[in-house]
Amino acid sequence: MQRIVCTGWGPPEDLVVVDEPDPVPGEGQVAVKVAAAGVNFVDALFVAGTYQIKVPPPFTPGSELAGIVTAVGPGVELLQVGDRVLSSLGLGAFTSHAVLPALGVTRTPDSLALTTAAALVQSYCTAWFALQRRTTVRPDETVLVLGAGGGVGLAAIDVARSMGARVIAAASTAEKLEAARAMGATDTIAYETEDLKVRARELSEGGVDVVVDPVGGPHTDPALRALGVFGRLVVIGFAAGSIATLPANQVLLKNRTVVGVDWGAWAMQHPAGQAVVLDEVLDAVRLGELHPTPPAERPLIEAGAVLRDLLDRRLTGKTVLVP
Ligand SMILES: NC(=O)c1ccc[n+]([C@@H]2O[C@H](COP(=O)([O-])OP(=O)(O)OC[C@H]3O[C@@H](n4cnc5c(N)ncnc54)[C@H](OP(=O)(O)O)[C@@H]3O)[C@@H](O)[C@H]2O)c1
Repeated sequence: MQRIVCTGWGPPEDLVVVDEPDPVPGEGQVAVKVAAAGVNFVDALFVAGTYQIKVPPPFTPGSELAGIVTAVGPGVELLQVGDRVLSSLGLGAFTSHAVLPALGVTRTPDSLALTTAAALVQSYCTAWFALQRRTTVRPDETVLVLGAGGGVGLAAIDVARSMGARVIAAASTAEKLEAARAMGATDTIAYETEDLKVRARELSEGGVDVVVDPVGGPHTDPALRALGVFGRLVVIGFAAGSIATLPANQVLLKNRTVVGVDWGAWAMQHPAGQAVVLDEVLDAVRLGELHPTPPAERPLIEAGAVLRDLLDRRLTGKTVLVP
């Protein structure tokens, strides 16, 4: 088997490829031949040592994968060899073969390609948790999604649209805005060149109802000011690198609310609740209510280069690493 190893916190270019014997599942574990591993922003943070949870090297990055069960350990009854599965595992997904606790593995719908399944959990569960648990969206409401061509951004468009809302997408490039339109956004804002607050207010005739913000930095303040009466600012992440400071008067005005979303920590602390969220997402995919876009595919050994592209904002939508 091959796996990617971070031998010291730093740039993704420092990741190395290691060859070693295939792992054997122990009690309560399954072995999975990995079809694809999803790439997420958090993977780059783990490798850089800048995530809120700091994992001492050496470790294998990668937080989600999908593949085929090739062996089951003693005591595993609900899974069998040949099952198509996905898993959200925090670390260790950038590998050709994985040994996973059977309880952390979920069968994928037959209709879902394994590459798409590998890139689904982080982005879609975050967006679902944000819009179905932390706040809600009515069919007559308008949702402004920042970083709309990224993983969480595209998933948020899909989830908001599935709830009947109208979506305005904001992103940096024409390609990302096109991807957002393909996902169901009806209007777009090129937020590096257009005035985000002014355009969002114009497009929503006075103010949007919800802002989904996985980007932070300079875009949060104008997005907050673009919220209408009873608007909700949903804070998901800080991909731009800096954490915005919010003017409290802008929260008070128009009875706005700021909603924090920490799906990752919640999912770890509430595995039963997360299992329900994942079931809801997979059901919505099965029913055709959600439409995850097939990800771009790159070889596993290019993990470092792919994370560099992600950090330099060159990726549109999701990318998976294929062993
Ligand atoms: N709270 C949670 O539970 C949770 C869960 C999952 C992810 N997150 C966080 O959400 C954020 C987005 O994650 P993701 O997986 O969707 O990432 P992604 O696919 O890389 O998308 C992030 C988007 O942020 C924008 N961006 C603006 N400035 C950037 C910069 N300096 N570097 C990189 N991207 C920049 C880019 O869009 P433009 O080029 O169009 O600006 C990019 O498409 C991350 O901060 C991640 O840690 C949080």
